[in-house]
Amino acid sequence: SFVVANAATPGVFGLTPNIRQQLDKQYIDVAISEEHAIAMISGLAKNATKTSYSPYSNFKVGAAVRMANGKVFTGSNQENAAYSACLCAERVALLYACANAGDSYPVSIAIAAYQNGDFTKNIITPCGECCQVLIEMEKRFSHNITIYLYGKNETKIIKSAKDLLPLAFELGVRS
Ligand code: THU
Repeated sequence: SFVVANAATPGVFGLTPNIRQQLDKQYIDVAISEEHAIAMISGLAKNATKTSYSPYSNFKVGAAVRMANGKVFTGSNQENAAYSACLCAERVALLYACANAGDSYPVSIAIAAYQNGDFTKNIITPCGECCQVLIEMEKRFSHNITIYLYGKNETKIIKSAKDLLPLAFELGVRS
């Protein structure tokens, strides 16, 4: 039997090359546009806003991190009465991904936010601390992380977190 897959489905449905081999089926890979792939990962970020715990800000953020091996990990902001203990959706997703992804690494992250009963009209951008974490991951894995920002009325693609935080902190020696 045949399974029709495409560039984005391996991550979404866990159809990694290894799992494909184990399933012992033949796969027909159908090319999809970059736009379609971005729509899929942004959809996962939008869906992740549902798991946000944000009783203090009422601002629900969702993030979806796509790994080089096609797996996708999602996260949402998690708040606490001790406000400084709140964690952003981006870091929840990125750190969870790195803690659970074996030897793979993040290649892209999509971010969406939901407020007052709808997704925000404008994009939201990752905060400085999340950019700092993104930049360290880019360096650690020698790979830029593409950032897909979703808003109902505008979307934006950023090629690297360095474009958002050009003078990120470094321990003494600047690279
Ligand atoms: N937040 C994120 O999750 N990501 C961002 O990029 C900025 C802000 C969260 C933190 C807090 O729970 C709420 O949004 C309001 O600041």
